[in-house]
Amino acid sequence: MISPEKLTVLREQFPVTRRQLYLDSAHQTPLSLKVRDALAAFLSEGFQNAGPKPVWLRRAEATRARVARFFNASASEIAFTKNTSESLNIAANAVPLTAGDNVVLIEGDHPNNAYAWLNLHRKGVEVRFAPLKDNEIATAKTFEPYIDARTKVVTLSHVTFHAGQVHDLMSIGKLCKERGLYLVVDAMQSVGVIPVDVKALNISVLAAGTHKGLLVPQGLGVLYVADGLDELQPAYLAMSSMAHPPADYIARADDMATRNDALRFETGNLNLPDLHALEAAIELIESVGVAEIQAHVNELGDRLLSRLDDLDVKVVGPRERGRRNHIYVMALPVEKWADYFARNDVRVTPERGGIRVSFAMFNTIDDVDRLIEIVRTGLKDKTPAARAAID
Ligand SMILES: Cc1ncc(COP(=O)(O)O)c(C=O)c1O
Repeated sequence: MISPEKLTVLREQFPVTRRQLYLDSAHQTPLSLKVRDALAAFLSEGFQNAGPKPVWLRRAEATRARVARFFNASASEIAFTKNTSESLNIAANAVPLTAGDNVVLIEGDHPNNAYAWLNLHRKGVEVRFAPLKDNEIATAKTFEPYIDARTKVVTLSHVTFHAGQVHDLMSIGKLCKERGLYLVVDAMQSVGVIPVDVKALNISVLAAGTHKGLLVPQGLGVLYVADGLDELQPAYLAMSSMAHPPADYIARADDMATRNDALRFETGNLNLPDLHALEAAIELIESVGVAEIQAHVNELGDRLLSRLDDLDVKVVGPRERGRRNHIYVMALPVEKWADYFARNDVRVTPERGGIRVSFAMFNTIDDVDRLIEIVRTGLKDKTPAARAAID
């Protein structure tokens, strides 16, 4: 658990905590002062020096190395993209797949992953959906019945956005290794809140955006591609993708070799403002530690679950530690409760199965208790207007 002293300092970094009960980091984390300062410094450099691009690019490389450490990867295995979807689409179009091959997904997983693969129907690639209940987690066993000789890829979210399950990537990675399958992971909901070791988990490709656990504004994504997967080739090319970019800037067809690192998947200029913000955000995250953030949000989850039990309010996802992390969906009807929370200045997200509460490093036990009191009042309020709003 993050100490109370440290939490006080952290909450000062996130001014939103002074004016709102913010329980929506699975949607977007609020910005911190550190990130604001990094963006302001970037802008002022742009004003004064009209873009010191070599300096900015050097810093981008330093950020790449820091991002790599987050995943126990090397910098050569990290490309910057626009968001999770772009990273997943890059993966779907890079894996060598031919008509009749198949890809296995979890039914109901994030649509931004599903569509990237469903788009391959055009090439005759089959997409198979393995069913899974909201309170179950995916393991190797979930996928096994759907895998056959033509299966090439298993792909899933690490943590689901709609019920908060933390899937068992360890057993899935082992299965993929044994069967020679690519494992493509959408880590949008886990990066920054759960330590992710791509090597230990045998992940081939990982995709993530940076606006949740990595604390920066939307518009920057990360793509990890394991070194050595040279058969994965980019669908898009730019000079930055090439092994031997022409010094005279004249493209020639006789040397189309691409780089052998993940940078072959990068096209054109990078999101430099967001990369500056990311450097600052990672410093903030590392000042706490991802494992500590994970322990902290789990403690908040323990408290939430036990207090919801007192109120007899169920959650739709798993309850056991290890199977859930920072996302909890209260089984309260959305059409009635979403407005109620908004009127009480509680920031949460309506989800498929109820109201989603999600924690970040700056949330406290007191936040949980405040939420519970608001839920309790909502459940108790018997006035006709309140009943109409929350029943
Ligand atoms: C699991 C998951 N994947 C992807 C996304 C978003 O995709 P993108 O970064 O492309 O907007 C989200 C939520 O925003 C998510 O929860």
